[in-house]
Amino acid sequence: MPVSMDTLVSLCKRRGFVFQSSEIYGGISSCWDYGPLGVELKNNIKRVWWRDFVQRRPDIVGLDASILMHPMVWKASGHLDHFTDPMVDCRECRLRFRADQVDALPWTHFCPATKGNKFTIPAGEPCGHCGARRMRCPDCGKGELTAPRQFNLMFKTFMGPVEEDAAVAYLRPETAQAMFVNFENVLQSMRLKLPFGIAQAGRSFRNEITPGNFIFRTREFEVMEIEYFVNPHDRVEGRPADEYWHERWIEDCRAWFRRYGLRDENLRLREHEQDELSHYSKRTVDIDYRFPIGWSELMGIANRTDFDLKQHAKASGKSLTYFDEERKEHVVPYVVEPAAGVDRALLAFLADAYLEEEVRGEKRVVLRFHPDLAPVKVAVLPLLKKREDIVRTAHAIRDELSRHWRVVYDDTAAIGRLYRRQDEVGTPYGVTVDVQTVGDTDKGERADGKVTIRDRDSMEQIRVPVSQLVAVFGELLGDAGWADVAARVGRA
Ligand code: GAP
Repeated sequence: MPVSMDTLVSLCKRRGFVFQSSEIYGGISSCWDYGPLGVELKNNIKRVWWRDFVQRRPDIVGLDASILMHPMVWKASGHLDHFTDPMVDCRECRLRFRADQVDALPWTHFCPATKGNKFTIPAGEPCGHCGARRMRCPDCGKGELTAPRQFNLMFKTFMGPVEEDAAVAYLRPETAQAMFVNFENVLQSMRLKLPFGIAQAGRSFRNEITPGNFIFRTREFEVMEIEYFVNPHDRVEGRPADEYWHERWIEDCRAWFRRYGLRDENLRLREHEQDELSHYSKRTVDIDYRFPIGWSELMGIANRTDFDLKQHAKASGKSLTYFDEERKEHVVPYVVEPAAGVDRALLAFLADAYLEEEVRGEKRVVLRFHPDLAPVKVAVLPLLKKREDIVRTAHAIRDELSRHWRVVYDDTAAIGRLYRRQDEVGTPYGVTVDVQTVGDTDKGERADGKVTIRDRDSMEQIRVPVSQLVAVFGELLGDAGWADVAARVGRA
């Protein structure tokens, strides 16, 4: 059974992943705060993405641009004129809907065939009593909807102390434009050769008409984007370079999500229809994920052609070209753009990791995060918190392991309960310090200097000398799997 959104929202709040923003004031619509574990998970997603697509690749460099940019950027990019959604308003209750989504909502109906009784009718269906279809506001069921109007999704603000037209600035709706306007700076400073990419992860802002579904659609969110510049005159494996790289990026991105835990059956590709393509796109393919709300976009990979560089060259009067040494000509590169939402990736990783199972007659909730994504890598747990030597040893182990990884210490419950707590937040390994570790002089038992490592997924245990813990976790949290290490060390 796929996990429900309510279950995830509740787990996220209870265990410190995501809180409603400004909750003590009643909250603010569609804004969320990442708590102590949420921020670790989110940072890990961005870190792993950066490691795999920037640090490990010779052809991609990074950028961290400012959120506020010259207003001309948004004129030239087309966002001022085209970054709009059609909206309709209810004349009665004043609620606002996206015109293209209003038919996808369940609707309220006061049925004349049943003396005006109120019904909520599933989206797109007629009333079972009178056969009427939705004509009015889907929410209040009374008001007429206005004709669609275009609504620009960019947040407007003012720079400086005076609120006048000349001071208008916009919060960026995508990070991409900074990579286009910095094209020449990056190209010259890094002496790059096509094909190459510029990557950036950062906040974007969109005044969405209908945000919702937890962190799936918000007005402030983070994206991880790459603008991958290719020479449009090149051919790769018999195909135009932009089309070849577009396919490559679709496959690489899908493989990336699978590698970090999303199951293949929960991923699908969706080709954009001609009439839904963004104003800059020749072809866009979304990677959809089967979220608790159904199949929805996780990321998009667009072929933006030379649209943006040409627009900015025209508007700024600066040349944004690449000199092709072989052909001795200046070309405007084409751009393939993989763009993934960090918050949506986090929601997908959470949903796919969530598992409820029965263990010895008890329910166990476990988040089976990939170790690279897990907010906490190791929990150090003393078996007896009354034994000062056990507690001291456990603290020393936590201190040592914390030099390398995010590690926590917990002694606030019995060991079984402590394991369950860590399972529920996805900590891959527990280290238990017990009497054998430190010995028992009263009973004449010598310390063996070993601790138990417990694996979250299999719940198997191995016993390892304290002196080898850093090396063993180096393997477990590196490329070796539990099975390899457990086979070598021997299960406890
Ligand atoms: N530069 C291209 C671009 O911005 P996009 O498809 O509009 O493309 C990229 O956005 C990704 O950002 C989406 O695939 C989605 O994961 C995420 N995203 C877009 N709007 C969002 C919103 N309102 N809330 C959360 N994530 C959003």
